[in-house]
Amino acid sequence: MKAALSFALFGATSALAAKSLSSVQRVTNLPIVSNKFIVEVAETSDIPSKRDLGTPHEQLYRSLKERKIAFDVHKEYDAPGIFVGAAMTLTDSQDVASILKTNGVVAIRPVRSYPRPAPVFSKTCSPGDAGLPDSESTHITTGVDKLHAKGITGKGIKIGILDTGIDYTHPALGGGFGAGFKVQGGYDLVGDDYTGANAPVPDSDPLDQCAGHGSYYILCYLAPPFNSRVLDQEPMLLYVRPMIISSGAITRLKGIIGANPGNEFNISGVAYDSTIYAYRIFGCNGSVNDDVIVDGLLMGVKAGMDILTMSLGGSDGWSESTGSVVSSRIAASGKIVTIAAGNEGASGSWFTSSPGNAIDAISVASSDNTIIPLQSFTVDGVTHDPIVYYDTFPLPVTETLPLYATSNDTTVVDDACNPLPASTPDLSGFVVLVRRGTCAFVDKLANIAAFGAKTALIYDNGNGFAGIEVGNFSAVLIQAEDGVFLGQQLAAGKSIKVTFPQSGAGVQFPSTTGGLVSTFTTYGPTNDFYFKPAITAPGGDILSTYPIPLGTWRLDSGTSMATPFLAGSAALFLSVKGKSPSVARSARTFFQATAKPISSSLTDGDPFQTVTQQGAGLVQVYDAIFGTTTLSRTELILNDTAHFAGPQKFTVKNTGKTVKTYTLSHVPAGTAVTIGAGSILPALGPVPLSTSYASVKFNSGKFTLLPGQAHDVVATITPPKGVDATTFPVYSGFIHVTSPVESVHATYLGLAASLKDKQVVDNTDIIFGVNIPALLDSAGNVQDGPVNYTFVGADAPTMLWRQAFGTPLLRLDLVSANTSFAPTLNSRAAISFATSHKGGSFAKVSTLGPLLEQPYLGRNDEGDLLQNTFVLSNTFANGTTISNGSYKVLLRALRVTGDPTNEADYESWLSPIFGVAA
Ligand SMILES: *[C@@H]1O[C@H](CO)[C@@H](O)[C@H](O)[C@H]1NC(C)=O
Ligand SMILES: *[C@@H]1O[C@H](CO)[C@@H](O)[C@H](O)[C@H]1NC(C)=O
Ligand SMILES: *[C@@H]1O[C@H](CO)[C@@H](O)[C@H](O)[C@H]1NC(C)=O
Ligand SMILES: *[C@@H]1O[C@H](CO)[C@@H](O)[C@H](O)[C@H]1NC(C)=O
Ligand SMILES: *[C@@H]1O[C@H](CO)[C@@H](O)[C@H](O)[C@H]1NC(C)=O
Ligand SMILES: *[C@@H]1O[C@H](CO)[C@@H](O)[C@H](O)[C@H]1NC(C)=O
Ligand SMILES: *[C@@H]1O[C@H](CO)[C@@H](O)[C@H](O)[C@H]1NC(C)=O
Repeated sequence: MKAALSFALFGATSALAAKSLSSVQRVTNLPIVSNKFIVEVAETSDIPSKRDLGTPHEQLYRSLKERKIAFDVHKEYDAPGIFVGAAMTLTDSQDVASILKTNGVVAIRPVRSYPRPAPVFSKTCSPGDAGLPDSESTHITTGVDKLHAKGITGKGIKIGILDTGIDYTHPALGGGFGAGFKVQGGYDLVGDDYTGANAPVPDSDPLDQCAGHGSYYILCYLAPPFNSRVLDQEPMLLYVRPMIISSGAITRLKGIIGANPGNEFNISGVAYDSTIYAYRIFGCNGSVNDDVIVDGLLMGVKAGMDILTMSLGGSDGWSESTGSVVSSRIAASGKIVTIAAGNEGASGSWFTSSPGNAIDAISVASSDNTIIPLQSFTVDGVTHDPIVYYDTFPLPVTETLPLYATSNDTTVVDDACNPLPASTPDLSGFVVLVRRGTCAFVDKLANIAAFGAKTALIYDNGNGFAGIEVGNFSAVLIQAEDGVFLGQQLAAGKSIKVTFPQSGAGVQFPSTTGGLVSTFTTYGPTNDFYFKPAITAPGGDILSTYPIPLGTWRLDSGTSMATPFLAGSAALFLSVKGKSPSVARSARTFFQATAKPISSSLTDGDPFQTVTQQGAGLVQVYDAIFGTTTLSRTELILNDTAHFAGPQKFTVKNTGKTVKTYTLSHVPAGTAVTIGAGSILPALGPVPLSTSYASVKFNSGKFTLLPGQAHDVVATITPPKGVDATTFPVYSGFIHVTSPVESVHATYLGLAASLKDKQVVDNTDIIFGVNIPALLDSAGNVQDGPVNYTFVGADAPTMLWRQAFGTPLLRLDLVSANTSFAPTLNSRAAISFATSHKGGSFAKVSTLGPLLEQPYLGRNDEGDLLQNTFVLSNTFANGTTISNGSYKVLLRALRVTGDPTNEADYESWLSPIFGVAA
């Protein structure tokens, strides 16, 4: 996942800011490792006559040599039934087409690179820190507590974690490695120094003491009940200001409410008796590539893992990457594979991650914990309860200090935005009170720091209460009414002193988003319309272990935390139902059928959250295991209007011991308005929801089943009427099958538009202030007229483009300067919507040769994946030199569901003339 924007940025107005063209680096920037491919070959057993010709690998290499293809093998894969092939570098990337025609070759895919996982929010903590959350709240909301109470703890189940490795020296992680320890096995596939750009240096020890991500897992499933750390020793009552949520309004109640019944640090994992294998696939820095992920997955299968889990990925929107394909095949073979959905919710829809896109794996969304652990300070000189501030750990201020306000006006809009008056006293002995507004927090803090201030309380100017970005200053946010109270008292001449207790002042603050889908969860669906994410698990504000050199414990948010929660849930499932492949294959269906649909807000009457972000709902582990009604299918995929699958059939079976009468009902979720109205760009998250819903008819709305009896339901689903197809509305919802004792559901998902109508190439000026695509000259300016290049040093043109939507195939070809080809996209037009398709068959376009060919390229966003760039060289993709002369670049992108052989299904753009003068 992409590194966190600071979590404070969530909820900020997400307006599209134009980026400067000068920020575009003139280096090739595509999410693949250049010239590296994974070739998949048929298994020998598939071709009996070929068996004596050597292994499939030997046959492949021989054929490649016969075809004079230059290659260098990095890794061989030999997992018959799942994946047989090799990762290799090709000298000539144009050989891809030729390799595909080689006997026995099943597929060739580019090697994709995945950034290292970063939590959305995290903070290191140490055992003595107060205010840490316990794991019980997440166990109760998912039914894990009831399973633990029955002694179901995952014994006998092996979970393989592909991540940064694990610090098994941590006491809570067993303190050792190998037989007899919690972490019984694994492998380091890469070594500390691996960055994704160099060769891995494997060894047998997956110890991680530099990154930490892989050690998160303790909370999630492997910690034993853990009572040894005393948390809040003294006060048995904690101050808390609960929020009573009523329709539309948040009412605050003041008062002293009872604290947690226990006051011990009481962490326990979901499946704490399961066995862990750690496969380290990240070095201390950098990313990981597909070839290593596949290696780790196959190693886990070979070592007999029942569950494989990965909290990593990169947005690409397609289920076709090798990492996704292999993960899916492992799942189909009868293992459970859980993969994070991603933390890119701010980027909007159609932005799913690979390998989480694996069709048969379980992609996991995150829900917010119901409580946020915060701190409070006490005040002297006025009468007031302790005041909650937004930090998980106490501000490191040990003295009681007087409070100073930079303004006595508690309605001031730009408090401390300008340098403070010269008459301001030395603030080093004060805690400074400042009002939020107008300028950045760090600007205010710099102004007060200029007078020596070391600690500040910023009070909100509205209803905000969240973590804020304060750089290296020691400052926290408090709520508006607390700040106004303190400010008014100071203005009235009171002298106030504040104390930040270093223990005992933790507050379990009710989250205003508790139980909702975490806003950072990546939205689906995939471009090929798969159901990602599949399900939600708790992942917001989760306490977990951290490598000892880095601080032992940490509080984190991210789908990285939700994923091991689900892996642990899967371990409980297998430990009760058995480990057979058919049980493992059925797990997702059981989890989805029994999940609890999540609303889009805590306001009564608001729609359920779109299935594109929550999947089938919040996992209910107990119900998934002990429910007595099963559904044969739980993902009803209706696809787009051009491939619409309206009538959906599934079978309901009564697996209980009593007769049950079921009623069917339809509960829609909010329709996701995925593309901005009047725009070609995806709407940013939180994705707007509409209440135009699909309608559903049933063959029979009510039926009775004897124990063991089954019934076929036919649900005929009609897409919502009157919606704007140019906003590509994704409708979704739940079909509940309810008996007096339980309720299960199937979840549907469809698009009220045709994907082939979705423009894929961004031809607007929205991001850069100039129309794109563009050819940038060697100074980084948009090339307007003809320019000659020497291709010496930096004197080369750079192709710059953005994908407003994913494309199954992108090509850059060289064409002659006087080509008669008429492109569909005119770079001079400001915005051209719904460009009419032109052109005949694909073969009719006369090109001089390919420069770049990219299958399954995902869309860009406004963050880390802002644009694609490709620096031209004076060679074709196969390395043959382009002779001096005048040319243009032809960019073509196939629309989703388009026919690759039909020119009319491509968008195209022609560059200005450029000269090769090498
Ligand atoms: C700790 O958690 C266990 C369940 O995991 C529970 O039975 C026990 O009561 C808890 N202890 C305290 C002190 O809360
Ligand atoms: C790798 O990460 C560590 C820890 O974050 C950092 O100190 C070091 O500078 C990084 N090294 C490189 C080469 O980026
Ligand atoms: C805080 O950060 C700024 C800029 O990053 C730096 O100039 C300043 O010295 C830092 N202050 C402290 C106390 O570390
Ligand atoms: C606010 O009012 C108090 C009491 O009158 C006074 O002592 C203080 O200097 C005032 N602060 C500012 C920033 O004007
Ligand atoms: C949706 O339809 C397209 C076009 O036929 C197809 O390629 C894709 O696989 C379908 N998606 C699913 C999930 O069936
Ligand atoms: C580019 O080079 C060609 C061939 O030498 C020449 O005819 C043309 O004028 C040059 N164009 C520019 C813009 O320099
Ligand atoms: C490389 O590609 C160019 C353009 O398609 C073609 O003309 C040339 O023959 C190719 N060279 C080789 C060695 O295949």
